[in-house]
Amino acid sequence: MRLRYLSGFGGHFESEAVPGALPRGQNSPQLVPFALYAEQLSGTAFTAPRSINRRVWMYRLDPSVKHSRHLPRAHAALQSDFTGTAGIVAADQLRWRPLPLLPGAVGGEGVDWLDGLVTMCGAGSAESKEGLAIHLYAFNAGMRARRRAFSNADGDLLIVPQHGALLVTTELGRLEVEPGEVVVVQRNITFAVDAAVCGEGASSCRGYVLETFYAAHLAPAERGPVGANGLAEERDFLHPTAWYEDITGAHVVTVKTGGRLFERARSHSPFDVVAWHGNYAPFKYDLARFRAVNSVTVDHTDPSVFTVLTLPSAEPGSAAVDFAIFPPRWMCAERTFRPPYFHRNCMAEFMGLIHGGYDAKVGFVAGGSSLHNIGTPHGPDEASYRAAIEADTSTPAKFAGGTAFMFETRAPLRLSGFAADEGTAIFDTEYRNCWDGLPRAVLPANLEHMEDGAEPPRCA
Ligand SMILES: [Fe+2]
Repeated sequence: MRLRYLSGFGGHFESEAVPGALPRGQNSPQLVPFALYAEQLSGTAFTAPRSINRRVWMYRLDPSVKHSRHLPRAHAALQSDFTGTAGIVAADQLRWRPLPLLPGAVGGEGVDWLDGLVTMCGAGSAESKEGLAIHLYAFNAGMRARRRAFSNADGDLLIVPQHGALLVTTELGRLEVEPGEVVVVQRNITFAVDAAVCGEGASSCRGYVLETFYAAHLAPAERGPVGANGLAEERDFLHPTAWYEDITGAHVVTVKTGGRLFERARSHSPFDVVAWHGNYAPFKYDLARFRAVNSVTVDHTDPSVFTVLTLPSAEPGSAAVDFAIFPPRWMCAERTFRPPYFHRNCMAEFMGLIHGGYDAKVGFVAGGSSLHNIGTPHGPDEASYRAAIEADTSTPAKFAGGTAFMFETRAPLRLSGFAADEGTAIFDTEYRNCWDGLPRAVLPANLEHMEDGAEPPRCA
């Protein structure tokens, strides 16, 4: 399937699936072309400054308000509150194996994307509009075939497919998202997730999801001294073009608000937007387009230089959450320990691996996850350390082994019950042993050193 996209970030787009469907010169005319319904979706408060104000006008066959009463729906594995006793505090270095891929589903059986979500960790709560949640997904059934859609009032969703390409159908059009690409579906935009390729073995998908509860939205990181070019380029963010289906019959939209799920039934498809314009629309981004920069002299640049998307906090320079990647790249710093260094961070780091390997961990496998919470020491494992100190750094070397990513947040992350359960098949109980064999530095016996109590040198 070759879909058309609108390129750019932060701009004002317009798209119509039927010529003449988009009103000209005004947003809400008395009579909309083709008797469509005009409907605004706000992504920010009405009065947000123009530079950050987000909204979209949709022109649709039926207004969204035509639906049944909301009925509660259970989802035992999905968590949106990590406050009080609702999350499990963890200080250890933690790692998980990938979720198992689900076998090919038959007929209408199987688990769809929404039911296949399982929360790993998070901070704050959806109701407070402060915090985030990190989920994994594994599914083998489509949402469209079930005439099912999802709308999240709790925040934006950044979906990182790891296995299996996705077809993400939204009110504003469709996006095909392959592993190596990511897609952002913002708060209150109705969408459905399906496998993009149907066929034997191709409908089983797996990946990661970042859910941000904040009022602000993810945006490309500032470039600072890098200049006007590089890192994530605006033209590489792709938004869908208008697409609609004129289908009646039972449809269900599951909504999440305040951490609770409800279902509202409709007698028509929610994907009935014939035209739209605005600056609040889903987008996808190909991580291979990221223009990475790094040290060309000595030392290892902080991983913040690989930030693709960020969501600022009120504290200057400290993100509420960053999405950073570790892509294939040249490493050329001389006399330098080239892998990520040993460190303790004032931010919490949740990592995933999309494909291949990660240059600081031999045992990190594609589809797996790790968490190093605020202040938790971590760094390269023994094998990576030994290889790095023996490497020839007089010439550049290409790290072509894979693409890892990190959700980094200033909030301490708390675990879900699933993530904390050491008895699950994905919990890696051996992870903390990967540093045991690191050799201890030995000082020479005859080393000169300052005597205790010696006078410090005085200034003249
Ligand atoms: Fe780290």
